[in-house]
Amino acid sequence: MAEENNVKDADELEKEHFVRIVNAFKYYRLYSLNRIRNTERYYDELPDHHRSIIPNFRDHLSKVRNCIETNFHLIKLIIQNTEHMFENKNHGPVENGAICMLQGEEGLRKHPPTSYDMDRVKTTLKQFVRDWSESGRNERASCYDPVIREIRRRFPPQMCDPSTVFVLVPGAGLGRLAYELAKLGYSCQGNEWSLFMLFASNFVLNKCREANAHKLYPWIHQWINNKTSSDQIEPISFPDVNPADLPANSNFSMAAGDFLEVYTEPNSWDCVATVFFIDTAHNIISYVETIWRILKPGGFWVNLGPLLYHFSDMPNESSIELSYDDVRQVILQYGFQFEKEETGVKTTYTQNPRSMLQYQYDSVFFVARKPA
Ligand SMILES: C[S@@+](CC[C@H](N)C(=O)[O-])C[C@H]1O[C@@H](n2cnc3c(N)ncnc32)[C@H](O)[C@@H]1O
Repeated sequence: MAEENNVKDADELEKEHFVRIVNAFKYYRLYSLNRIRNTERYYDELPDHHRSIIPNFRDHLSKVRNCIETNFHLIKLIIQNTEHMFENKNHGPVENGAICMLQGEEGLRKHPPTSYDMDRVKTTLKQFVRDWSESGRNERASCYDPVIREIRRRFPPQMCDPSTVFVLVPGAGLGRLAYELAKLGYSCQGNEWSLFMLFASNFVLNKCREANAHKLYPWIHQWINNKTSSDQIEPISFPDVNPADLPANSNFSMAAGDFLEVYTEPNSWDCVATVFFIDTAHNIISYVETIWRILKPGGFWVNLGPLLYHFSDMPNESSIELSYDDVRQVILQYGFQFEKEETGVKTTYTQNPRSMLQYQYDSVFFVARKPA
């Protein structure tokens, strides 16, 4: 009986979490318009002679407002029918009386989502640039191409039946790397834990059936470091390719859930490909341990990314933040053999190419093998 109650609690918590994320997406428009309204109010308070020097400023704000409407239209498509998107779960309808119910505008105004959740919505929009737009091409070339190249080298699609090679991509984001591997014929599964990402990847992978069918303004929330006002309202089209364009009988799936909880079956994957993922761990050793366990003997772990430990400075969260040197010792201790290792690999992450601020990571790239 006690166990039954626990299960029910877990289900309720999951449902609340689901509703919280939908509410964050729904709040996007009000939240973003509010930001503009504040600027507009301040502009109105400027002395007349200052306002007259920048006569186009108000016009720019109204352009940003239109961009928000376009983004919100897309967001509504993203969250449409998400309650039915999981094969093993149905999250709707949410009953009245639930602690955290789906809110209308009025409710959202009274109980707004947290700024953390609203940041996640904005990050999710930028993720479309990285994974599914023409302007993300260079970023993908630096982050995904080396990984794809190493997998192809070890499992050449012309020399083996790639559908018998099982590749796992934990922390798959919007799924482009996993899609590219499936396109080469590998049996590929992406795994993702964040509902923000899962809603967006579900939209692009399962609902977009035509290249460049959608438009989005990913940079409108960047109010600083713009060289020209038009940079802020620069659109992208996506997806740059038709996501349905996969070989017949391809084996491609996305699995929702925490990597550490979903993947417990030993010796089941030929390759694990992690890109900008291993630093999402509370305890990075548990990631290494799980990858070691789930890889078949002779299997490969291909990794690329920095060590921007996600929980490092988060209130109420703990993590161990090992240096790369320590991480590689852990990897060796488990028995992996490094077949390739490079540091200082120049990479970016959802970087606005026009911004006056450019972040670049000196990422580490390695291929480690679990001996046969
Ligand atoms: C920095 S992003 C990288 C996404 C993608 N690999 C890319 O390169 O664009 C890290 C991703 O890992 C996901 N993630 C974090 N912890 C996870 C976990 N325990 N299990 C599965 N995914 C996780 C996050 O939600 C996020 O989408």
